[in-house]
Amino acid sequence: ESAERKDEAKSYKEMISTFPRVQWWSYYEGFWYHSMLLEGIMSAQDHFIPQSTDIFITSSPKTGTTWLKALTFAICTRSRLSGSSASALLTKMPHECVPLLEYHRAQNPMKRDCAVPLVSTHVPYSSLPKSVVSSCCKMIYICRDAKDAFVSLWHFIAELQRSRNVEPLSLEEAFELFCSGISGYGPYWDHVLGYWRASLEFPEKVLFLTYEEMKKDTAAHVKKLAEFMGCSFTLEEEEEGEVQKIVSMCSFDKLSNLEVNKNGTHSLDTLIDVKNSAFFRKGEIGDWKNNLTPEMGARLDDIMEQKLKGSGLKL
Ligand code: A3P
Repeated sequence: ESAERKDEAKSYKEMISTFPRVQWWSYYEGFWYHSMLLEGIMSAQDHFIPQSTDIFITSSPKTGTTWLKALTFAICTRSRLSGSSASALLTKMPHECVPLLEYHRAQNPMKRDCAVPLVSTHVPYSSLPKSVVSSCCKMIYICRDAKDAFVSLWHFIAELQRSRNVEPLSLEEAFELFCSGISGYGPYWDHVLGYWRASLEFPEKVLFLTYEEMKKDTAAHVKKLAEFMGCSFTLEEEEEGEVQKIVSMCSFDKLSNLEVNKNGTHSLDTLIDVKNSAFFRKGEIGDWKNNLTPEMGARLDDIMEQKLKGSGLKL
């Protein structure tokens, strides 16, 4: 690590130490972040320059990022693989196929396969590096019912904390925080609204998707994604069942049963390795019902409805 990098990291740390803090989240530009990722975000804001062909996979955590990464990776590598569609996904976790801007940027330089023009980020639209917003790069955003996103997040964090021997937050505590906007990259509604408004303003640049719609008709979304990414399926490919091959390859059942995703690990930050299986929990719509009371569900629905009022978006 260069002396310059060390100085920079130190100055980010100093700045971060002055930000408002709740639990392990720091507040920056209207959103809450885990401090370690915040350094990466600030560094990306200062230094990241996209390639003009880059496509950004954007999301709040736990809204279907892993799935969207797998699908977009499979779509854009299909022609390279002469028949064995997306074989890299058989041995690599989707998060290793598509780097995360704020994490990998923090480990300067960002390791990437330049032939695959995909970069992912959880950074809210309003805090994206200016170089990204002012570029012609496309973005694909995925979001999900807030109750399911919260429940998925709670299970994921509890899993991480167990592996660090930290007592997990109770569901009730985490729910209260989430409802007041405090969660990694939250407030959730502001995250969603930022990309929603961008997708209305720049429809050719920002594609806005929901987990629920993708589940309902994955094949139609694979085609839509390919079209948006500028690599539509040819008639020949469609006749050969290429779309369906990608849908199956990236399905929850297929991915979650691969050895790499069942027993592998990857590093999420410099301190811990995360079990890949933590990214594949249930993959269902409506699992919140098994975790939250109907009253909690109604409360979060009310919050979302109020926050999204007038935006034209219903989640
Ligand atoms: P659950 O916790 O509700 O099961 P992210 O990838 O953004 O971290 O989101 C994780 C959520 O997506 C988890 O939801 C996970 O099970 C689900 N998921 C992961 N891979 C999936 C796939 N291939 N198809 C559908 N859902 C998937």
